[in-house]
Amino acid sequence: MSFRNTTYVEDVSPGSGALPPRAWYASSDAKSLSLNGSWRFRLSPTADAEDDSFAAEGYDAEDWASVTVPGHWVLQGHGAFGAPIYTNHLYPFPVDPPYVPTDNPTGDHLRVFDLPEDWPGAGDAVLRFDGVESCARVWLNGTELGEFKGSRLPHEFAVGRLLRPGGNVLAVRVHQWSAGSYLEDQDQWWLPGIFRDVTLLHRPAGAVGDFFVHASYDHVTGEGTLRVESEVEGRVTVPALGIDVATGESVTVPVEPWSAEIPRLYDGELATLGERVPLRIGFRTVLLEDGLIKVNGKAILFKGVNRHEWHPEKGRALGLATMREDVLLMKRHNLNAVRTSHYPPHPAFLDLCDELGLWVIDECDLETHGFTEQDWRDNPVDDDRWTPALLDRAARMVERDKNHPSVVFWSLGNEAGTGRGLTAMAEWIHGRDPDRLVHYEGDWDCRNTDVYSRMYAFHDEVEKIGRGLDGGTHKRRELPFIQCEYAHAMGNGPGGLADYQELFERYDRLQGGFVWEWIDHGIKHPDLGYAYGGDFGEELHDGNFVCDGLIFPDRRPSPGLVEYKKVIEPVRIEGDGADGTVRVVNKYDFADLSALAFEWSYQVDGETVEAGALSVPALAPGESADVKLPEPPAHGRDGEAQWTVRALLAADTVWASKDHEVAWAQLPVTERIKPSVAASDRPTASERLICLGPASFDARTGALKTIGGVEVTAPRLDVWRAPTDNDDGAEWQSDTRYGLLWRKFGLHRMHHRLDAVELGESALTVRTRVAPAAWEIGLSTVYRWTSDGNRLKLTVSVTPEGDWTVPLPRLGIRFGLAEADAVRWFGGGPGEAYPDSQSASMLGRWHSTVDELQTPYVRPQENGARADVRWVELGGLRIEGDPEFWFTARRWTSEHLDAARHLTDLTPGDRVWVNLDHGQHGIGSQSCGPGPLPQYLLRAEPAEFSFVFSEVR
Ligand code: GAL
Repeated sequence: MSFRNTTYVEDVSPGSGALPPRAWYASSDAKSLSLNGSWRFRLSPTADAEDDSFAAEGYDAEDWASVTVPGHWVLQGHGAFGAPIYTNHLYPFPVDPPYVPTDNPTGDHLRVFDLPEDWPGAGDAVLRFDGVESCARVWLNGTELGEFKGSRLPHEFAVGRLLRPGGNVLAVRVHQWSAGSYLEDQDQWWLPGIFRDVTLLHRPAGAVGDFFVHASYDHVTGEGTLRVESEVEGRVTVPALGIDVATGESVTVPVEPWSAEIPRLYDGELATLGERVPLRIGFRTVLLEDGLIKVNGKAILFKGVNRHEWHPEKGRALGLATMREDVLLMKRHNLNAVRTSHYPPHPAFLDLCDELGLWVIDECDLETHGFTEQDWRDNPVDDDRWTPALLDRAARMVERDKNHPSVVFWSLGNEAGTGRGLTAMAEWIHGRDPDRLVHYEGDWDCRNTDVYSRMYAFHDEVEKIGRGLDGGTHKRRELPFIQCEYAHAMGNGPGGLADYQELFERYDRLQGGFVWEWIDHGIKHPDLGYAYGGDFGEELHDGNFVCDGLIFPDRRPSPGLVEYKKVIEPVRIEGDGADGTVRVVNKYDFADLSALAFEWSYQVDGETVEAGALSVPALAPGESADVKLPEPPAHGRDGEAQWTVRALLAADTVWASKDHEVAWAQLPVTERIKPSVAASDRPTASERLICLGPASFDARTGALKTIGGVEVTAPRLDVWRAPTDNDDGAEWQSDTRYGLLWRKFGLHRMHHRLDAVELGESALTVRTRVAPAAWEIGLSTVYRWTSDGNRLKLTVSVTPEGDWTVPLPRLGIRFGLAEADAVRWFGGGPGEAYPDSQSASMLGRWHSTVDELQTPYVRPQENGARADVRWVELGGLRIEGDPEFWFTARRWTSEHLDAARHLTDLTPGDRVWVNLDHGQHGIGSQSCGPGPLPQYLLRAEPAEFSFVFSEVR
């Protein structure tokens, strides 16, 4: 029996052989060589299955497979290299720290490289790994360099002495599981591999080592103070500011400050004897004052999101273009902050945040959530043996990222309980960088933190905190509050965002939050569309809980992002359309409104009849002004009229082009004229049919068959919707979970009993009772049909019977059409909306197709409703509502939608199913947060609503 040297895998230490951490930068003149690309690869089942002879020179790896670096091997090789595993917080191996399973997929990576011709002969060199999951051992030209853990952190090795011009052999052994895995229990896929860049950096004699840019801003004097501490002495120049000082020396000059809204960066340079390094300097001061987080003297409001790194094919190995796309999408949707949940991102992402402007909470690569299953017993963060590993992680994050003005908070990690290790991290960070604040959510007493942070606190608790009535330690009571996670964006939703925002804006102590989360971590799959937990046959998994983002895996914005954009818009436009004045409020923290151009337009029945520019003063932050609208156009007085006022970018910016819409509002002027149909036609019956106006009905059942030439599957009352993830709620939620209650009470299997078909003088009346088997509750439902000869009106009256203790998913009718494709409507759009997620629904005339009306939630569920619809045309019919209604159309039924697990399960049937709803239940965010607020519940109450049908040719 042989025990090869694999003890380092289960060693709590962070590793050995690596250089001390330092700032991450790209040199202007020192050479570098990217070692990204195709590497030779061999996978073995255990850490010690193979010896390390592959690292020796001359090893023949010709018959090995290959993988792309950066990359995760489980996402390459078409299944030949194992599969991803998704767990939320459960460790996918027995919990016995620091030990890991014998079955420990181990990937040997080999790369042979030559130095470029112009690689300098003199000087040293450093080999940098930006991210390897979870533990790596490294050799160059047969010499072992060391081993390390800390997956999303950089590690460097001095290699100059080992390099030669040609045929360098770099060997890296990567173990999927290690002691480090216990510290990396984030809610995400477990994805081993060398997933960030590998780079060889030349280090000339006299090169820059580590350096720390301190650039503060005094909002009283308008001056910035710059001091660059540098391990190697040199000079610092900033031409635009006339700065030319020695390192270590401080200089104060008038500057424009950096903020997420106006990300003013000054280009500078740090020059030592042997190297020049470009600096991008942003002057800003972050501090806690008057119980508030202030930047440059002003309290800020985070309108943030939690971002995991994700790409549907590459996992966490993102390219620069993807990172940029994320930041651009955030900026274009009015976000101003990002929490790098739950590890430091690729460093280039932070460059983008500096450049384009986002506040950043930079979070350490630390989570031990699985220990919650044993009441946090043996939690590494409360065990001194692990403290060196924790401090190593803190240092690798802070040292790497300390020169980014965008980073305003260091976060110790996520969901790691509490313990001395965390305190040690906080103390070290405060000492090393007193100019930033420390965040950690798990510390409700705020012993180690500078902010009281929580996740998924319900609206009422947030309000209590806002009012300072929440209790807690004395320290906590003096701190500001943020929700580092809220509004769980899993599937359809989140609902209730506007209600949170209203609280954040009402109470000073509430400094905003970070929606959970940015992107669905769906994995592109040949048969399933996007795969989620369980799709790879994992022993333990958490299903589609990994798909809870504001953007779909392909980065298309979901309705949740569009809603969030509207809710956090930086300009409030309000007023009374009838009196012709709008109030414009600047809600930016720093920017005035000079970058925006305002426009008005006037719509009658959804059609714009006139539009023009609106002159709005360049209000300072917090200021407001009343602005007079023009006289309403004379030709637009009959019909439903409204103003739409929009704030657009006045010129191109780095993140969006001119005319990009930033904010908008609609102000009603005159009310809608409701459809009216004189009940002048009389229903007539023959043996099989009843005829009324343009319609025919089944004589026995009273079921509608045709409207003119359009054949329909008869409308019936419908209360069921395919439960959303938020309807179903998370399994740990003890609160009422409506999705489950609906099934318990059989709302997905209602029986329709026919009680009477009555032909009256001017109406056909069909009486029914709609009720679930096994229960006494029911809905007495009367359909009353009338016509003026041309148009057909249906009035539905619903009276609940029995003891209804649950709200309804929806209340309306559903019918089928043999054919329908193009859809036009006047109502809310262009996207979907639900009662507590309808801020972004804009009243207008819209058109689409049945297929485009669908929102592709990775796990299929209720979606696609359009709100406030006055009328809709599809399949040869025009339908007007009294009152306005929710409209949904799809090529499958709600029952099919409910049964589907992936989008690929949804196959069009021979009908288009149309729902016209009088009511929809709210969405909430109970998949990890509160359910819908009481005002958004669809209670079973008596209701009456009508639709007018006519044929369109
Ligand atoms: C939080 C956690 C996140 C994620 C979220 C639910 O508890 O910090 O990582 O798991 O819940 O999606």
